[in-house]
Amino acid sequence: MDAQPAELLALAESIAREAGEMLRDAVDRPREAVETKSSATDMVTEVDRASEELIAARLREARPDDGLLGEEGASVEGTSGYRWVVDPIDGTTNFLYGHTGFAVSIAVEHEGESVAGAVLDVMAGELFSASKGGGATRNGEPIAASGEREVSKALVATGFGFSPEHRGLQGEVVARLLPRIRDIRRMGAASVDLCSLACGRVDGYFERGLNRWDVAAGGLIATEAGAILGSIEGGPPEPRSMVGGAPGVFEELRSLVAEAEEKAEAGG
Ligand code: IPD
Repeated sequence: MDAQPAELLALAESIAREAGEMLRDAVDRPREAVETKSSATDMVTEVDRASEELIAARLREARPDDGLLGEEGASVEGTSGYRWVVDPIDGTTNFLYGHTGFAVSIAVEHEGESVAGAVLDVMAGELFSASKGGGATRNGEPIAASGEREVSKALVATGFGFSPEHRGLQGEVVARLLPRIRDIRRMGAASVDLCSLACGRVDGYFERGLNRWDVAAGGLIATEAGAILGSIEGGPPEPRSMVGGAPGVFEELRSLVAEAEEKAEAGG
């Protein structure tokens, strides 16, 4: 039998809060056992792993038949048709350096789509949530994407991947966009960027090379708040190619990013 999105969301929220407490306690302690993953800048701490273990244990207790995909390696097939997608610390670099803006992101998918998701911006104490068709909230209050209509006035968040070659190109894309928009923000956690889009703290967002756990909860929260998401090339959003915007700026921003990428790749 299908689970109720509201119940799944309540579970995601309570586990995100518990993991958030662990991160809040840990953030000021000196970090040890830092390792790198895909590149020298892609870091993982012992706390990323402990947070994922905690989340996985709570999900196993509450929903033993569900699948699980976690950034730090959790991978369970499941038999129920539901799969949890978890980023135990989104914004690990922020966490490691003691910057605000790292989050716990927990979503649950059914038939390949997120049906509920929670993102806890730990230091801000802001819990963003959404269930499919149920709207989006911040600490229980409804939120909505901005009403901006002019891309030249759009504040746009972005992020950079971990591979040095991609970063160079991403920097060039930003250089081409800057004269055409209000400004850029690089806050350090894709899930928080998407929640910022959801509540009008930015008018747009784009990034390449993300993974499902970066966007599974934040993407649902953004669209439930009325933002539009797509891929940079056009068509549905994909973690490897994401652009989002308030309805009044989405399409123009998408085509500006696509054009900036083409020119950066051509070196012209
Ligand atoms: C990263 C953050 C960052 C984004 C990177 C992600 P992580 O996630 O979301 O903002 O630019 O692409 O990988 O590794 O800190 O969980």
